[in-house]
Amino acid sequence: MRIHKIAAIPGDGIGMEVIPAGLEVLDACARIDGGFRLDVQNFDWGSAYYRRQGVMMPPDGLAALRNFDAIYFGAVGAPGIPDHVTLWGLRLAICQPFDQYANVRPARLLPGIQSPLRGVRPADLDWVIVRENTEGEYAGQGGRTHRGLPEEVATEVSIFTRAGVARIMRFAFRLAQSRPRKLLTVVTKSNAQRNGMVLWDEIAAEVAFEFPDVTWDKMLVDAMTVRMTLKPASLDTIVATNLHADILSDLAAALAGSLGIAPTANLNPERVFPSMFEPIHGSAFDITGKGVANPIGTFWSGQMMLEHLGEHAAAARLMRSIEQVMADRRFHAPDLGGAASTAKVTDAVCQALSNNAEVRPKET
Ligand code: IPM
Ligand code: MG
Repeated sequence: MRIHKIAAIPGDGIGMEVIPAGLEVLDACARIDGGFRLDVQNFDWGSAYYRRQGVMMPPDGLAALRNFDAIYFGAVGAPGIPDHVTLWGLRLAICQPFDQYANVRPARLLPGIQSPLRGVRPADLDWVIVRENTEGEYAGQGGRTHRGLPEEVATEVSIFTRAGVARIMRFAFRLAQSRPRKLLTVVTKSNAQRNGMVLWDEIAAEVAFEFPDVTWDKMLVDAMTVRMTLKPASLDTIVATNLHADILSDLAAALAGSLGIAPTANLNPERVFPSMFEPIHGSAFDITGKGVANPIGTFWSGQMMLEHLGEHAAAARLMRSIEQVMADRRFHAPDLGGAASTAKVTDAVCQALSNNAEVRPKET
């Protein structure tokens, strides 16, 4: 029996509703597979913890997470606490020290889900966005001085290192190479930003030589929003900086139907540190406690976690089950225009998993 140690951090808001739902589904995956088991430990870190303790997670928090095989994360952010405090206190406090430099965000129009784009079919929108996840605009460099004075100044410095750019480019080219179309779009803004973004472009061109079978092109980020909207089928794998990919992945999620179904993996590809899996959506306090949060983004993130853990058959069963459930509008949560509750979607996916017990990775 393979045992995978999972740290679950539901965090804030609907994170506390979707992570338990996700664990229920992952447990069903393990039971149906029969070859592995998840050993889950829950951590109550987040804004409630912050109100009690003054910190989002304890000082030895990273040490506590270090020996898990993966982290399953809900969301952070709460009314009354500045977003940069919650974010830097927990999510980025894990991503950066654990060197989770490759943030992978698939966006796919699932059968049964309507894109806001006219006439777009599932085959036309099947992307993976690779987000640089440790430096760039989120490097955390900068400062504020002369606070409150007319000459107050603040800097937010983007950091691009050769090592950081080269590793994310290699990761993206390799991912593009593994997909049928072998197509990569490198997003940039080197027309206006002539230092970091020019280094980014140069390294993309260098790394491209290592992947002669991958077709690649370059898009300015502003023009990229137009291409995603008007020519979605022309895109496959996409690599972008931390901030550019943050913005483009919200657009991608909206075009693929809803932010509520979009998954993320924060990967440390070398596996020196645990990787972290989370839905893209935030804590959504407006719907917290109503039992209507869409758990599909969390299930899909769980599917990426199973892949990362090497449980390919279970991952294939889960993806097929998600697709089957989404094909039936009765199981669409309010963000997709339906009325299904978190519990109803969860039960449906567990039921579909039982029906898909025979699915093997090759068949999907
Ligand atoms: C995301 C989110 C975060 C980000 C927020 C919560 C700060 O939007 O994961 O895309 O900008 O990285
Ligand atoms: Mg975002």
